Amino acid sequence: MKIKSVEYAGTIASPGRTSFEMLPQIAFSGRSNVGKSSLINRLLRRTRKKIAHVSSTPGKTQALNFYRVNKDIFFVDLPGYGYARVPEATRTAWAKLIEWYLGESSQVLGVVHLVDARHPPTKHDHSMVEYLAEIGIPTLIVLTKIDKLKRSERDASITRAIDALKVNHAQLLPFSSKTGEGRDTLLEALAELMRMEEEN
Ligand code: GTP
Ligand code: MG
Repeated sequence: MKIKSVEYAGTIASPGRTSFEMLPQIAFSGRSNVGKSSLINRLLRRTRKKIAHVSSTPGKTQALNFYRVNKDIFFVDLPGYGYARVPEATRTAWAKLIEWYLGESSQVLGVVHLVDARHPPTKHDHSMVEYLAEIGIPTLIVLTKIDKLKRSERDASITRAIDALKVNHAQLLPFSSKTGEGRDTLLEALAELMRMEEEN
């Protein structure tokens, strides 16, 4: 998949009808601070002039942010969850928004779920991956911040995530927004999702 054009297309902060044109979508999920916005910027080659907001205060963005790519697909930055300092009411609102979006949109081709390569998957990661399987959305797991691991730690981290989340080897890939490692592989996997959609 070659990135030819990118534009910010809008934000949805609460469940309800949307005025978005119906384009296929790929959503990026994962806990706060895991690196969703950084990954989107890296994929879209917007590391210097960022398009997705990278925040120093995790858990601030509680909305879905849409980026239109090549005029034919949306990348959707989902709000991060599991940040301890977020009050309970905000967490409930978060779950409602995600469930509404993933449950009602027929245009989500797949979800890229991010896990920090340095830590074991959390119970939130488990429930997200299970939920996606239940509703039948193809899921890719990306191990972020892989640049922070020593060579010798990488394989262990990959095996740990595969075992914990019960996914296939082909469903998981290491990624670094800092070095760009994994970018081409991920874009190729996303292109494959789009091809599958066209064939259906
Ligand atoms: P929320 O919007 O709060 O949900 O967070 P997020 O998942 O969008 O994370 P964000 O992209 O804002 O990144 C959080 C922090 O991690 C920032 O300081 C990034 O610079 C850093 N970071 C993200 N990805 C990487 C990576 O691959 N390698 C390294 N070294 N740092 C990263
Ligand atoms: Mg973000």
